[in-house]
Amino acid sequence: MSLITIDSKKCKRDGICVRECPTAIIKLKNKESLPQLIKGGDDICLRCGHCVAVCPHGALDHKDVPFETCPPIEKELKLSPQQAVQFLRSRRSVRLFKDKPVEKETIQRLIETARYAPTGSNMQLVEYTVFTDKEKISALAGLTVDWMKFMQEKFPDAPTAAYMPMIISAWDMGFDSVLRSAPGLIVASAPKENRNGLVDITIALTYLELAAMPSGLGTCWAGLLQGALLSWDPLKEAIGLPENHVHHYPMMIGYAKPRYYRLPERKPPKINFR
Ligand SMILES: Cc1cc2nc3c(=O)[nH]c(=O)nc-3n(C[C@H](O)[C@H](O)[C@H](O)COP(=O)(O)O)c2cc1C
Repeated sequence: MSLITIDSKKCKRDGICVRECPTAIIKLKNKESLPQLIKGGDDICLRCGHCVAVCPHGALDHKDVPFETCPPIEKELKLSPQQAVQFLRSRRSVRLFKDKPVEKETIQRLIETARYAPTGSNMQLVEYTVFTDKEKISALAGLTVDWMKFMQEKFPDAPTAAYMPMIISAWDMGFDSVLRSAPGLIVASAPKENRNGLVDITIALTYLELAAMPSGLGTCWAGLLQGALLSWDPLKEAIGLPENHVHHYPMMIGYAKPRYYRLPERKPPKINFR
């Protein structure tokens, strides 16, 4: 099967797929001819599926993004602009979680949505290391505190040292301000050699946190864990990322305890139109 197949009965020769293709590998010889792949197109194709998505007639099939795997966009499910703004503004960093586990299936479902996040060159190389055992997560928080204690002793003048004493003393009193006793933790990672890896990871987890909201799940970026995970070997070992992978900020997840009634204001943006 060629990379793209055109149904000659459905194709209207309108050139929409030709104009849409980001790598310009589809051409239309003249107004009567069917769209075809240029020579070498197979090697350049991003497998992004835009050609399948954009054809209003359902005339184009792609070997690696088959038409039958691409459901139609349902008009009734479209958000209004106001709904979109409220949805995005009502996302909160949640730091209090219900004493309720997050099922592996639930996290699997969220990752199923996160994988539709954009990735550089549509590489889709993000992987997820997931913890759903509270005790294991607490141990990771403990290892982060160990790192903080080490840093305080060895590098008391480091800029990060300012916030560490509070976190350490809270931990020593039985309060986890590193991972907030979260019942779930997700560490996204990508192969080191993937140029866009850190961005891809961050966008994927951003998708995931938004996808989590309608199920009553709350998330919070784990900045304190991030610092430790960059350098503290016992923590790296306990997390066990795939070999030669880089990570970025991990994400806590759990059923949100607080309910929010207002949309807090933020600084006005500084925009430099040129
Ligand atoms: C990169 C990054 C790291 C963060 N690290 C932490 C963290 O370690 N602990 C925490 O409680 N919140 C953390 N946060 C949450 C921020 O404090 C939060 O986004 C900010 O206060 C705004 O609140 P909102 O997310 O509810 O709008 C982090 C957020 C980002 C984007």
